[in-house]
Amino acid sequence: MTAVTPSTAAMGQAPNEVVVEASNLQRTYEIRRGMFRAPSQLRAVGDISFRIERGRTLAVVGESGCGKSTLARMIALIEKPTAGQLTLVGTDAVNQAPDRKRELRQAVQLVFQNPYGSLNPRKKVSAVLEDPLAINTTLSKPERAAKAREMLARVGLRPEYANRYPHMFSGGQRQRIAIARALMLSPRLLVADEPVSALDVSIQAQVLNLLADLQAELGLAYLFISHDLGVVRHIAHDVLVMYLGHAVEQGPKSRIFARPLHPYTQALLASTPGLSSQRIVLKGELPSPLNPPSGCVFSTRCPHVAPRCREERPLPRMLDERLVACHFSEKFLDGAPPVRADVPVLAVPMATSP
Ligand SMILES: Nc1ncnc2c1ncn2[C@@H]1O[C@H](COP(=O)(O)OP(=O)(O)O)[C@@H](O)[C@H]1O
Ligand SMILES: [Mg+2]
Repeated sequence: MTAVTPSTAAMGQAPNEVVVEASNLQRTYEIRRGMFRAPSQLRAVGDISFRIERGRTLAVVGESGCGKSTLARMIALIEKPTAGQLTLVGTDAVNQAPDRKRELRQAVQLVFQNPYGSLNPRKKVSAVLEDPLAINTTLSKPERAAKAREMLARVGLRPEYANRYPHMFSGGQRQRIAIARALMLSPRLLVADEPVSALDVSIQAQVLNLLADLQAELGLAYLFISHDLGVVRHIAHDVLVMYLGHAVEQGPKSRIFARPLHPYTQALLASTPGLSSQRIVLKGELPSPLNPPSGCVFSTRCPHVAPRCREERPLPRMLDERLVACHFSEKFLDGAPPVRADVPVLAVPMATSP
């Protein structure tokens, strides 16, 4: 089944160029636990589909361990999918000759969570920014240096910072340098894996604004990974909510934030201050992806679970402009979802709503 995020085209706006399209992407790891035991299959990502157009941001949200970074690595062409199709700027990005793959790798760049770990401490900023040009282009040394300085200015840093080492900068400045490095080869898609999670809240907003400005200026597509719905609300056009490797809800941010139709999305929103009048604290651990629940992946923690949920896995279906994988989402279409008292959930009305 191919399930794709409803696009702007479907919403009556002019269609835009599709930068990346993923269809039924999967990634399974083989886990060996001892010499004489058969390996187990860990399905980190199961059946994810989406497309991102030029100038648009798809945010992927979910708890730690749900498969976000694995998805990011596949989209950034660092890791091969176990199954599924991936098309980047109109070209099959999985089954390609090494030469063509190298070219495609320039079209997608990654920004990581930790700007301390991702910048080589022994390299000056000038080298950090110029090396991708030295490897992939025929530009001369002065041309490379000029481009690096231009890029520093573009990300809000002084060109003379090129002569400094990464440790001389604050966390926010280092993340700006990492973004500058990612942009040196003029990519079409930026995959940002928790890019502001390690930064102070005041700095987060600055980096998010920078990403938004760069997107408007350069028409970049973003795959933005975060566990924080407050950040997602700031930056996303579309949202994909992941749970245990699966997409449980997927569609335009405005629809999903206004009325989440999957109980997991409802719980995520309720756990983010200021986004919901309800507080739902999910009890129980995230199940192991080595031993996922039968039926619906969320059935072991869902406040609305019914017998059918444990037997039959709900397939994503279109409801109120988004895809939702729940047998009972219709009941959330009008009014706030009722929170039952006999289920492992704590519902506490928030004292003040910020
Ligand atoms: N290289 C790997 N080998 C085995 N298991 C892995 C590997 N990478 C990730 N996993 C497992 O896949 C699942 C998803 O991990 P990850 O994509 O890092 O999630 P997230 O980024 O959402 O925290 C986890 O259960 C993790 O332990
Ligand atoms: Mg991760």
